[in-house]
Amino acid sequence: MAIEVEAHKLFPGVYWAQLELEKKKLATLNFAPGHTVYGEKLVKIEGNEYRSWNPFRSKLAAAILNGLKKLPIKPGHKVLYLGAATGTTPSYISDIIEQKGRVFCIEFSPRVFRELIDRVCNYRQNMIPILDDARLPERYRMFIEEVDEIYCDIAQPEQAKILANNADMFLKSKGWVLLAIKARSINVAEEPTKIYEKELQTLRERSFDVDQVIQLEPYDKDHIMVLAKYTK
Ligand SMILES: C[S@@+](CC[C@H](N)C(=O)[O-])C[C@H]1O[C@@H](n2cnc3c(N)ncnc32)[C@H](O)[C@@H]1O
Repeated sequence: MAIEVEAHKLFPGVYWAQLELEKKKLATLNFAPGHTVYGEKLVKIEGNEYRSWNPFRSKLAAAILNGLKKLPIKPGHKVLYLGAATGTTPSYISDIIEQKGRVFCIEFSPRVFRELIDRVCNYRQNMIPILDDARLPERYRMFIEEVDEIYCDIAQPEQAKILANNADMFLKSKGWVLLAIKARSINVAEEPTKIYEKELQTLRERSFDVDQVIQLEPYDKDHIMVLAKYTK
């Protein structure tokens, strides 16, 4: 079967893969050849193994497909990831940042954390798993270096505030953040747009320039992805 892979024109480390007659799909170069994270398709071309990236499983892929203008996460970068869960999106970030990059993965559920280690981090030396609470960044301060970007997907009240507190401690000057806001988990009674606005306002008050807000439908309902730059 013919397979074609081409580099994404704007985002280093991201690819388009096309199997004969199928639509083009997002993919990354697998940092852990032979290993999948959730049963995604692996394709080999000229000695390289690519992993397909499902936008229904990863909000970052959904944001890229829905028109993200800039992907600040690049090969060699250090990324702080808040809410790593079982490692689906963190594993793609691990692919993108490659050997010289680092992704520090904060997750506070011990059960989920075990899966993150067993299924993902054990095969990827550029991922540093940390079992802790993103609301208490001073507790994991000693494990983390200054980072180029922060990715936040914790589905918690006051997500923007938690992100900003981590940025004040770990983000480099003029660094970037990506924040996935889940409207429903913050307050079930409130309208999603009101919740989004409140979180965006918090970001602005905490020295971020909001660059882009992306709806994630049809891949993910009731979520938006926010791309913002730290102005400090
Ligand atoms: C929506 S899931 C993240 C999915 C993941 N970002 C992905 O795309 O693969 C949210 C995760 O954040 C974790 N979480 C929620 N609040 C947290 C906190 N205060 N500190 C650390 N992790 C937290 C939850 O346990 C859950 O695993």
